[in-house]
Amino acid sequence: MGGGRVTVNSQLELRNLAKTFQNGGTVRRVLDNISLTVKKGQFVSIVGPSGSGKSTLFHVIGGLTEPTSGQVIMDGKDVTGTKGLISYMPQQPALLPWRTIEDNVILAREVAGLPRQESIEMAREWLGKVGLQGYEHAYPHVLSGGMQQRVAFLRALLSPQEYMCLDEPFGSLDALTRYDMQKWLTSIWETQKRSVLFVTHSIEEALFLSDTIYVFSNKPTNVLKKITVPFSRPRAEEVMEMPVFHELKREIYQLLKREQERSAESTGTKEEFSHAAPY
Ligand SMILES: Nc1ncnc2c1ncn2[C@@H]1O[C@H](COP(=O)(O)OP(=O)(O)OP(=O)(O)O)[C@@H](O)[C@H]1O
Ligand SMILES: [Mg+2]
Repeated sequence: MGGGRVTVNSQLELRNLAKTFQNGGTVRRVLDNISLTVKKGQFVSIVGPSGSGKSTLFHVIGGLTEPTSGQVIMDGKDVTGTKGLISYMPQQPALLPWRTIEDNVILAREVAGLPRQESIEMAREWLGKVGLQGYEHAYPHVLSGGMQQRVAFLRALLSPQEYMCLDEPFGSLDALTRYDMQKWLTSIWETQKRSVLFVTHSIEEALFLSDTIYVFSNKPTNVLKKITVPFSRPRAEEVMEMPVFHELKREIYQLLKREQERSAESTGTKEEFSHAAPY
């Protein structure tokens, strides 16, 4: 991949990450032991139950939260707790209300000290490609939730870092726009070959977009299964009609359903201990 010059070290690697939150008397073990790898140029997805710690994991990768144990290794170097090394699209668009749309898109480039004019030109070109032409000088509050998500996505896409972490980037889009964005994302990815770690609740989306899928358990969270997606690139829509697509979809669905049943049985109290008991 990437012209064959990729060395073993060219990857983002999470080694045995664990994260426990402690608020007052409550101890919440969220990540138990997560190890995964995103090789340079790969598209890797995570699917897992709500509350399993996917966003927390991204905060750990981005250096916003310290893990309780384990390491984040980037291109062979331990970068645990270091900020600014990944391009990150948070689950909520988090646009800055006082900056125009184009100034929001170029934010990460500005922070990295890249030339403004070039960044603005890129932002305008991409805004046009995602149907936001004419909004360059508008402010975020005039945009719908889905439009804001596209802006946040472009901000991550135009960030200069190699590894992109996208936390449910298409979560609040209607089905058709979402489908268009998926096709559009595969085509950009296939030409730009960015390294992507992607969180989604849609099994189909994960199968259509990814090279590898990690299925997460309930918290305290482990990797239930690593799935290698067998479809070739460039990826055509027809893969969604292939029997193996449906088999993999069923397999992932069953894994997640079992997790849901397990969590219903344990009523969520197994790993959470409240010592404060104020009521
Ligand atoms: N700062 C914090 N303090 C205490 N608990 C936290 C903190 N941040 C997250 N948690 C807890 O960690 C767990 C995982 O949350 P997280 O948002 O990472 O889940 P998620 O997998 O992204 O869920 P979703 O799919 O709904 O977005 C939740 O139980 C949440 O309450
Ligand atoms: Mg989340």
